[in-house]
Amino acid sequence: MERVIKIGLLGLGTVGSGVLNILDINHDEVTSRAGARIEVKKILVRDPAKQRPVNVDPQLLTVDPWEIIRDPEIEVIIELIGGTEAAHSYVEEALKEKKYVITANKDLMALAGGELLALARGMGRNIYYEASVGGGIPLIRPLKHSLGANKITRLMGIINGTTNYILTRMSLDKADFAVALRGAQEKGFAEQDPANDLEGRDAAYKLCILAGLAFNCRVGFDSVYVEGIDGLNLRDIFYAGELGFTVKLLAIGEELESGIALRVHPTLISSSHPLAGVLDENNALYLVGNAVGEVMFYGPGAGSMPTGSSVVADLIEVIRNINHQVENGVMETSFVEKRVVPMEQLSSAFYLRLQALDQPGVFAGLANAFADEAVSLDRVIQKRSAEGKAEIVLITHVVAEKNFNHALEKIKALPAIKKINSLFRVIEG
Ligand code: NAP
Ligand code: HSE
Repeated sequence: MERVIKIGLLGLGTVGSGVLNILDINHDEVTSRAGARIEVKKILVRDPAKQRPVNVDPQLLTVDPWEIIRDPEIEVIIELIGGTEAAHSYVEEALKEKKYVITANKDLMALAGGELLALARGMGRNIYYEASVGGGIPLIRPLKHSLGANKITRLMGIINGTTNYILTRMSLDKADFAVALRGAQEKGFAEQDPANDLEGRDAAYKLCILAGLAFNCRVGFDSVYVEGIDGLNLRDIFYAGELGFTVKLLAIGEELESGIALRVHPTLISSSHPLAGVLDENNALYLVGNAVGEVMFYGPGAGSMPTGSSVVADLIEVIRNINHQVENGVMETSFVEKRVVPMEQLSSAFYLRLQALDQPGVFAGLANAFADEAVSLDRVIQKRSAEGKAEIVLITHVVAEKNFNHALEKIKALPAIKKINSLFRVIEG
């Protein structure tokens, strides 16, 4: 007799619709790979009357989460509502009810993943979260399985689709920031609160997840230095382009001798760098393992169908495990904490745009402030003068963050300096 696995879906928004769509259009492939027929028994929504982009039997919709989570026939719960409060209690309760859990929720996995995975292990169950990072790109499974033989020392990537879409549209179409953000929201890439994307938190949650797997440790959200792209000015994108750079929001994780260093910040990278060619909502992750060498993953980092693809792949794995009576597949073995190297102990090159009085001695004052702190300049350009003020753009060589910050304080105190417009880190090569 054909095996039927009943599942409960929490959320039918961008990702939930993608999941239903894939279960419909790829029904035969998914069923034969899973080795069972999948029946969506109930779906949690906030507003059952809302128009949906997928055909769904209204009888399946409910606003009562417990009707799904406590249903003994449902073996798998797929959490796609987002946020951390309700999602946390639903996932926790689902595990206590001995359900397998699949989630796309990076906020939840970054903030409470350790605790929830421990609960899953205790209950002989597991949490699958491939869709939480990189949308449709396989990243979690490769880090847990395929790259497990490596000591990974460095990872660097574009792991937020919304900000990459905004930066791409600003750079290629000269689009206004707000217009580009609206485009990302209309396409379903942005979080319910897009501040999570714009202020870098979404990428930082994802970096916590990736770094925890890559460096085999537990990573707290407050270990990550975070800067977003909110307030980014079109002018910086143009100036960066003129200097041979592209602006990207990068997430960078390193395991150094002194500990792990984790940061998310807008970065000028050489326009010839492979990450510079990652456009729109696409994501990419580059990493270095001591056995494999350099590896790069690339693909759609957000959106209904790509993210649904990762969720349904997790569902197939869950069902295979159920079929083969593998109860507890928790692979994350190390929850040790590692020392976090603070940002001021790292080094970077910097791009600085500032406004100064257009008068003699300004460059000398800047040069002295930098020289006092052993900050060496790579490029200095006076962009334009108007109303007695000059716009100056400069790029430093790689310097200690601490020294650059001291120099910046001195520069801000110079009477001829009227405004620090923008500041970005730079990666060449
Ligand atoms: P979404 O479009 O806003 O959909 C959220 C769904 O959850 C909606 O159907 C909503 O119901 C329902 N919902 C929200 N809160 C609820 C509550 N308290 N009780 C009942 N139902 C609730 O979100 P999404 O873009 O699909 O994202 C879902 C998750 O996937 C998030 O964790 C997100 O970070 C993650 N993710 C998203 C993407 C992407 O490209 N969008 C990619 C990767 C990961 P109504 O429809 O009735 O309002
Ligand atoms: N808001 C997220 C992004 C969705 O833009 O990358 C995918 O995780």
